[in-house]
Amino acid sequence: MKAAYACAACGASLAKWAGQCPECQAWNSVEECRSAIPGKGNPRFSGYAGVAARSEVIPLGAVDSTEQTTRSTGVAELDRVLGGGLVAGSVILLGGDPGIGKSTLLTQTLARLASGMRALYVSGEESPQQIRLRAQRLGAADAKLLLLPETCVEQILAVADQQRPDVLVVDSIQTVYTQQLQSAPGAVAQVREATAQLVQYAKRSGTAVFLVGHVTKEGALAGPRVLEHMVDTVLYFEGEAGSQLRLIRAIKNRFGAVNELGVFAMTDRGLKEVSNPSAIFLSRHQEQVPGSSILVTREGSRPMLVEVQALVDESPLANPRRVTLGLEQNRLAMLLAVLHRHGGISTYDQDVYVNVVGGVRITETAADLPVLLAVLSSLRDRPLPKDLAAFGEVGLSGEIRPVPSGQERLMEAVKHGFRRVIVPQANAPRKPIKGLEVLPVLGLADALQSI
Ligand code: TYD
Ligand code: MG
Repeated sequence: MKAAYACAACGASLAKWAGQCPECQAWNSVEECRSAIPGKGNPRFSGYAGVAARSEVIPLGAVDSTEQTTRSTGVAELDRVLGGGLVAGSVILLGGDPGIGKSTLLTQTLARLASGMRALYVSGEESPQQIRLRAQRLGAADAKLLLLPETCVEQILAVADQQRPDVLVVDSIQTVYTQQLQSAPGAVAQVREATAQLVQYAKRSGTAVFLVGHVTKEGALAGPRVLEHMVDTVLYFEGEAGSQLRLIRAIKNRFGAVNELGVFAMTDRGLKEVSNPSAIFLSRHQEQVPGSSILVTREGSRPMLVEVQALVDESPLANPRRVTLGLEQNRLAMLLAVLHRHGGISTYDQDVYVNVVGGVRITETAADLPVLLAVLSSLRDRPLPKDLAAFGEVGLSGEIRPVPSGQERLMEAVKHGFRRVIVPQANAPRKPIKGLEVLPVLGLADALQSI
């Protein structure tokens, strides 16, 4: 076998060890791994002599096109991020910080699924007693769930071949190792090889496989980043420490939309679905305070109302702070520049802090306009009207650009009792919406005037 090296952060294969990965520039992430396939000696092309073509080609039209059936997991918010439900033979990677609720979610889901299908929970981290205790807490102690405390992937697959589960959970992939390699569990090569075997098993048997992956900031464990290419669906658990709210975001999905968001709340009896997240994200102020605006966002296929807060305060620093939570910091700097250049309002001597309430991360540009409104409201120390919401992208020349699904966003705003919405001109509805005053704006100047 030939010595080889791989980066734990990005998965790049290297011929030599290096302190810094030449691909992703991460430090101390390169580890030795032995390639499972022995080197073939001279790598130079020497023809295909001796290789008989045994694989067959299939015309595209002749491929079996029966639709892949999805099966509901019984947890609607999880179904949403999965793109409708579980697909037989698919591999789903669930990543997230330690303690965020990965094991809880999968225990709950599997306990529910176990009534209708065979479900096997492989745990390399917890003893069956611990899992049973958790299940008791979740009110699922009598579920027909099968447990297997095991970390050797060959063993896991041997048991799975015998038990023929319809759904299999491996918690977590970092604890699993293959006998074929000598490195410790959690090393890049181990994680990659074990995953490859589990993926192969899923495709061969039609079992849906959930893999739990840890992410650590130090990159000491091989993070799930390496695995993202190998699996069908990648879900990430997000949430603020200290907050009950837990969000699951689909980062990649071969069977559904990406960026779909599932919302849960962690309670003392497990994760509860939040089917109407707008109600949670809107903070409950009695009276309106300066520096707060309401954004109608759309994560995945669902519109949501979220409060954006801004604090603008005189800065003692030569380089005033621009701090964002839940938004991109560079975007804020850009918006402040547009506000100055096209709105004539300067903030060069002010610290600006912007926060999205509830720990949601907003990834779309529709937040631009509400962010500017919140900043302005804080700067002027004047609250915005209570029944006002907004959305819209701000362009570099001060124009307010349309965003997708304007109509849906407006309907969500009406549903939650908002009476006025500032929208980009191109998003204004053709027909008036009952009970809603739509304020279409073309440029930043219009927007400033409309408040
Ligand atoms: P867990 O699912 O073990 O996290 P992970 O597998 O992602 O590491 O969740 C552990 C946290 O969740 C722990 O801090 C306790 C909390 N928790 C509750 O608040 N309520 C519950 O019903 C359960 C089972 C856990
Ligand atoms: Mg766990």
